[in-house]
Amino acid sequence: MRDVAVIGVGCTEFGEHWGTSFRDLFVKAGALALEDAGVTGERIDALYVGNMSAGRFVEQEHIGALIADYAGLATNNTPSTRVEAACASGGLAFRQAVIAVASGMEDIVVAAGVEKMTDVGTGASVDMLASAADREWEGFAGATFPGLYAMIANDYMHRYPLTREQLAQVAVKNHENGAKNPIAQFRNRITVDTVLNSSLVADPLRLFDCSPITDGAAAVVVVPLERAREFTDSPVRVLASAQASDTIALHDRRDISTLDASVAAGKRAFAQARLTHKDIDMLEVHDCFTIAEICAIEDLGFCKKGEAGRLTADGATALDGEIPVNTSGGLKACGHPVGATGIKQIYEIVSQLRGEAAGRQVDAEIGMAHNVGGTGATVVVHILGA
Ligand code: COA
Repeated sequence: MRDVAVIGVGCTEFGEHWGTSFRDLFVKAGALALEDAGVTGERIDALYVGNMSAGRFVEQEHIGALIADYAGLATNNTPSTRVEAACASGGLAFRQAVIAVASGMEDIVVAAGVEKMTDVGTGASVDMLASAADREWEGFAGATFPGLYAMIANDYMHRYPLTREQLAQVAVKNHENGAKNPIAQFRNRITVDTVLNSSLVADPLRLFDCSPITDGAAAVVVVPLERAREFTDSPVRVLASAQASDTIALHDRRDISTLDASVAAGKRAFAQARLTHKDIDMLEVHDCFTIAEICAIEDLGFCKKGEAGRLTADGATALDGEIPVNTSGGLKACGHPVGATGIKQIYEIVSQLRGEAAGRQVDAEIGMAHNVGGTGATVVVHILGA
């Protein structure tokens, strides 16, 4: 297998893009990534596009071909493949691109993610997202994603010492980071009271415990490490690419407060990179709800079960903490265009490792990205190094 490097990244602003179509969002992110990499479109060997549900959000299928066409690559007959793993579609598209380059099959590959969710109302959107859980056993019984993560939160808070205030601190910290990120949907600072006084969505989760519904796209360019210096002086190495699965329904799990797929993917990534937790300088984790960030920090092994709430409240996961988590603002403040989130995580880590994160810059040489599909039925973990 060949070593792989990221040589360029691009991301649209996340938010409500009433004036920009699904395809134009992708083209914008792709053009930014190519410009950053100093690569022209005709040199691309393949595209992998993470997208969860364009068929339902914008009534468009056949996304691989559409994206290649609107990127101007149809006449080059560039192969383009859609990758779907619910909210982990972006992370998995990146993994497919890494595998393609590592195997020697392709050389210059674009991994991208795109979702346009706000063309439909909240009710329809929540229903589409629920199809990432088990429709027959969860969706038809009325379970939504906020509802499923609320069950995780209730179980967790029953068994471990996590207070409602500590949970709120996750959102406060992520809004603080998002306020410093020009692509974030929410750039407003909030307090614990903002979270505790916001409307109840699914007890105990309130509005500010939830990631929002978002439009956005992100893209990155990967090449074999041995060719990276042809394009850039600051390539970022892919040190590990790991994936794991679990039962699609939450109630079939051994323990609903531990995402076993996060545990497995995290262990595989550390083994592949031959690194330990002490080597990781920053984390982008899948905080689709505040409780998800608490579980992720623990399931990836950065502290024992039951400790992440205290660590968050003590500031250990803040920008100036021991292990900064979600320097981008996470899904909470950046927004969560489901197919794009996994690529935006890579975008953030590359920006940090290249020293280009401006007001939210941390001192980091190695970063980890953790992207979850559903309530943990798919987890993708990457480790990147400067
Ligand atoms: N955090 C903070 N503010 C939010 C927000 C969020 N998650 N979602 C919406 N808002 C704000 C909006 O900006 C708007 O503010 P304004 O009145 O000042 O303009 C206001 O709240 C109402 O927005 P609206 O779009 O009507 O919200 P909603 O009630 O329709 O939707 C949720 C709120 C929480 C139901 C929706 O965001 C949601 O379902 N989130 C979870 C998404 C999800 O499950 N993703 C997959 C995870 S695996």
